[in-house]
Amino acid sequence: MNNRISIIDYGNGDALSLARKIRSFGFYSRIFPYTIKGDELRVFNPSVTLHLTEEEVTTLTTGVERRVSDFTDDELKAFLLAHATPSWTMESYAEHLITEIKETVGDRRVLLGLSGGVDSSVCARLIHKAVGDQLTCVFVDHGLLRKNEGAQVRALFEETYHIPLIYVEAEEIFLRELKGITDAEEKRKTIGRLFVDTFYAEGRAIPNIAFLAQGTIYPDIVESVQLDGSLAIKSHHNVGGLPADLSWQLLEPLKELFKDEVRALGRVLGLPDLLLNRHPFPGPGLGVRCIGELTKERLDTLREVDAIYIDEIRSAGLYDEIWQAIATLLPVKSVGVKDGRRVHEEVCTLRAVNSTDAITAEIYPFSHEFMNTVVLRILAEVPTVSRVLWDISPKPPATIEWE
Ligand code: XMP
Repeated sequence: MNNRISIIDYGNGDALSLARKIRSFGFYSRIFPYTIKGDELRVFNPSVTLHLTEEEVTTLTTGVERRVSDFTDDELKAFLLAHATPSWTMESYAEHLITEIKETVGDRRVLLGLSGGVDSSVCARLIHKAVGDQLTCVFVDHGLLRKNEGAQVRALFEETYHIPLIYVEAEEIFLRELKGITDAEEKRKTIGRLFVDTFYAEGRAIPNIAFLAQGTIYPDIVESVQLDGSLAIKSHHNVGGLPADLSWQLLEPLKELFKDEVRALGRVLGLPDLLLNRHPFPGPGLGVRCIGELTKERLDTLREVDAIYIDEIRSAGLYDEIWQAIATLLPVKSVGVKDGRRVHEEVCTLRAVNSTDAITAEIYPFSHEFMNTVVLRILAEVPTVSRVLWDISPKPPATIEWE
């Protein structure tokens, strides 16, 4: 295949963005540490190899030497076109993945934890295309979901795509175990532990599972090249996280794709834009957006507030302009007057930010009119809220989430 560009990374730090750029030109590109053996590189079958040192790109196969900073995007593209053919499309990559999954899985069974997020949803659809009902998905409803989220996942995966789905109603267990916990880290730990326990308990009950599929993506695995030449593995990557008694193999079909490529793959597989363009949503869900104790009543209040906020953002046509829009319930109550009566109800706060990597974030500038509409709707439609605050703190110093 004459369309593959290898990047040999000497710890430059720009390897990921270079790989992305090259892929956007239609060449399949992968990053290798500088310690890679010639044989291993030949397996990837490179037509062009770029050595990305501190300040230099050297092309191995063509013998041309140029510094990376000397290439403009157009020149880089022209240079690659002179030595390789841009034939990498998401359609052909989807076909390649489906064939590969078929070969790997054979007649065995695959388990996938479906969260309703982009990565696991694309993974589910892809694997189901490859091996059909040998795939079983498990969705854990921990009671920390957004309004109607569980029903939407069911409608899409069960009713539209006919993908075998085990829907675990775990709200009661989660809320029982979370009762009285107000510390953010303790909440996260408890939610994480319960999630893992619930998921594996379901998985163990399904006979003959051979593979655990995960929606791991490229930036989850590759952060940068270490000084010793190994690729840094991000600590949250779940390799080795399987319970000791399970001999499932990991199946990670998205592990070579960037986030925007996962969305493009999802589009090729026919997943709706409404799902593919969703704002990032934290794993512990509304658990980290309901400051203080997590009770069914408080979570229901937050679900209503969040639904109104997102609904207004969508109606105004602003959803796709925003990185993340967040409603949070604060652990204070405030006096108000509703229907002529004094009330003492919850306080919520709203924010929306734009970001490219979640490491820094700027405030999305809503108009006063828009903010007014949202606030009045929340106060009119959610009886358990008496005050709405607007949070316009950028990151840094304020993190995107409140806790
Ligand atoms: P912060 O609040 O640290 O958030 O500025 C950065 C990004 O990470 C998301 N986030 C989480 N995602 N589990 C997750 O899966 C978490 O516990 C968590 N906390 C924050 C946050 O929504 C933002 O996109």
